[in-house]
Amino acid sequence: MQINQSFTVSYQYPVIFTEDTFSSNNQSLIKLIDNLSDRPEFLLCLDSEVAACHPELSQKVADYLAAAELKLSDTLIIPGGEDCKNHTQWLEDIYQAVADYKIDRHSYIIVVGGGAVVDAVGYAAATAHRGIRLIRLPSTVLGQNDAGVGVKNAINFNKRKNYLGTFVPPFAVINDFTLLNSLQVRDKRCGIAEAIKVALIKDKEFFNQLYADRFELAQFETAAMKNMIIKGAKWHLDHIATNGDPFEFGSARPLDFGHWSAHKLEELSNNELRHGEAVAIGIAIDSLYSVYAGHLTQADANKIITLLTTLGFTLNHSALQQLDVEQALNEFKEHLGGRLCITLLNNLGSGFEANHINSEWMKKSIAQLQSSELELAC
Ligand SMILES: NC(=O)c1ccc[n+]([C@@H]2O[C@H](COP(=O)([O-])OP(=O)(O)OC[C@H]3O[C@@H](n4cnc5c(N)ncnc54)[C@H](O)[C@@H]3O)[C@@H](O)[C@H]2O)c1
Ligand SMILES: [Zn+2]
Repeated sequence: MQINQSFTVSYQYPVIFTEDTFSSNNQSLIKLIDNLSDRPEFLLCLDSEVAACHPELSQKVADYLAAAELKLSDTLIIPGGEDCKNHTQWLEDIYQAVADYKIDRHSYIIVVGGGAVVDAVGYAAATAHRGIRLIRLPSTVLGQNDAGVGVKNAINFNKRKNYLGTFVPPFAVINDFTLLNSLQVRDKRCGIAEAIKVALIKDKEFFNQLYADRFELAQFETAAMKNMIIKGAKWHLDHIATNGDPFEFGSARPLDFGHWSAHKLEELSNNELRHGEAVAIGIAIDSLYSVYAGHLTQADANKIITLLTTLGFTLNHSALQQLDVEQALNEFKEHLGGRLCITLLNNLGSGFEANHINSEWMKKSIAQLQSSELELAC
């Protein structure tokens, strides 16, 4: 006897680009609340750096909700950066607040923070009551064009990146450009690496535009930054919606271009390297390997490296000396499940999946990055 169960669930969520979300004349958030008359509960989780840089924010959210006769139950401050994914005592604080304030599946958790806090609060929201509505306001460039717009949530376990996690789409994402003003330079820069990544695997025109805008982007000029964030987020969302595998049942992971080494470099540097900084190095490594393997021209790889270095990324980091290629590839394979699947480039704007990596060529690519032999395109 066998019953074959089958059903389909369709997901929709808006990704809104706006400024000053909690000013009284911005209706973006309140318009999302489809159960206003039930007076749902709201819990606010703030990245500690966001809370420090925007001390008025919690009161502003409370006032904003009060104008619609809604109540902010509480504000929790979550340690910003990778710390919140490594040390998770605060998870209990969220679960406790969910219990104390009777936050149910029709209530809302609003998270304002960098990719790490969004990932971690997303994990808490997805697991409490098996899923509470989550409104994300990513507050870093990387959060807005990548980490905060997709369907994944995670924390680390035993120093292994994203070892515990869920595939649960958010209720909504609000990309508020105003939040980015308080970022440190390196956090403004980090997110540009993810835009370059998605451009390299998907859209040559986008890559060429990033290349043409490299001096404006290096100065974080507003128009170039907004365009980079919106296009990066759009491609990220498009990939999830159309690649036929939003919850990654297969092994192919094109959005992880440059990430097999990046994840390891983050660990090896004890998180001294930010995710985006590690991704910039990972992009350079896999671009040079794509040349070794005969898929990409050296001139194209040089253009990629020129773009990354003009933006201020340091590509020769000391963590590279400790990178064990075979071990890192094995761990990445284990994380993917199934067979090894590494995205390489056969052109600017065109990625493809490779199931075999020649470790010697990979080591040579890394050695090339560490040497000053690179002949740059500019
Ligand atoms: N879920 C996904 O699909 C996905 C995708 C990519 C990356 N990620 C994860 O995202 C994380 C990296 O995110 P990130 O690059 O945003 O870095 P981050 O979250 O570590 O933030 C960097 C720093 O900026 C601070 N910060 C955040 N917003 C601020 C603001 N507006 N003003 C001042 N300071 C602010 C944070 O407190 C932190 O110290 C990694 O953990 C990575 O694994 C997840
Ligand atoms: Zn990434």
